[in-house]
Amino acid sequence: MDCPSDWPEPIVRVQMLSETENKIIPTRYVKPLLERPSFNKGDQGNSNIPLIDLFDLTNGDARAKKAIMDKISIACREWGFFQVVNHGMSSHLVDEAREVWREFFHQPMELKQEYANTPKTYEGYGSRLGIQKGAILDWSDYYFLNYLPSTLKDHNKWPSQPPLLRNVTEEYSNEIVRLGKLLLKLFSINLGLQEDYLQDAFGGDDIGACLRVNFYPKCPQPDLTLGLSSHSDPGGMTFLLPDEHVSGLQVRKGGEWITVKPARHAIIVNIGDQIQVLTNAIYKSVEHRVIVNPDKERVSLAYFVNPKSDILIKPATELLTSNTPALYSPMTFDEYRLFIRTKGPQGKSQVESLKSSR
Ligand code: OGA
Ligand code: NI
Repeated sequence: MDCPSDWPEPIVRVQMLSETENKIIPTRYVKPLLERPSFNKGDQGNSNIPLIDLFDLTNGDARAKKAIMDKISIACREWGFFQVVNHGMSSHLVDEAREVWREFFHQPMELKQEYANTPKTYEGYGSRLGIQKGAILDWSDYYFLNYLPSTLKDHNKWPSQPPLLRNVTEEYSNEIVRLGKLLLKLFSINLGLQEDYLQDAFGGDDIGACLRVNFYPKCPQPDLTLGLSSHSDPGGMTFLLPDEHVSGLQVRKGGEWITVKPARHAIIVNIGDQIQVLTNAIYKSVEHRVIVNPDKERVSLAYFVNPKSDILIKPATELLTSNTPALYSPMTFDEYRLFIRTKGPQGKSQVESLKSSR
């Protein structure tokens, strides 16, 4: 099964809508009442996702290391989200990665249109997720590109401008893959599995990695719409580089939406659906969404580290007991991803619907 080679209706760039200075957003972007941020405002700013400093992982004694491992374990089980500092990436690289992409979105439209994407691979400059005609859309544009497997990486599909973009993105990607492999190892150890278990389950050296750069333009009616509708990430795990100047990401915790307050130069990590399946839901892939702002744009880089796309993903036998039998049937990531690529972001409906009936 494949996605079609074109969109069901003409693409409108949200950035163009935003620049018209119109005070009313088109009805295509107005969410049903129950999904609007005005209906479910979320926390009043006192809570946050766990903040984990990785410094002692390489520099601390055994006790300090254990304390970090425990924090990671709790975050994976109870939050599905945490942010890390001292992750080994230089502050300069982190800022540069965000800012070259901000520059990309601020270039003339003709230049960006050269990279317009289609639902066939999603690679390139895009403005919607899902191909359902008449769907209510999100208030954002994005750029999607493949990094791993290297057979899918094609620098010609990455913007040629600004001049530093390709090199900076390459360097940033390399660091994210390093961090991804490290966390797969830490998660495996925390779960009591062989330290290579998760990386092997992801395909060993053939793991996937792809980047979605989100651009959320200013929005005159932020209470009526969302920058990104509630969803859980379909892949393995996600590394999000947020915009430090503008908040927007909200994470579901119990019945509440918690607004993430990023620490300086932090990377936000979240568990995706494939790790929820592999851990038989010991680790949770948690719903999140993005709200927009009347007077500030927001740029974020969401890096998805995924299993090799044609390998079967199923709960680790080592984690199953007679009281906790397998919750999911085996499925490849290719098959799984088609759902969000066809229907667009729809909460956690997918991983829930896959629960096997036994
Ligand atoms: C995503 C995502 C959050 C953000 O791209 O999947 O959840 O803050 N992004 O942009
Ligand atoms: Ni997401």
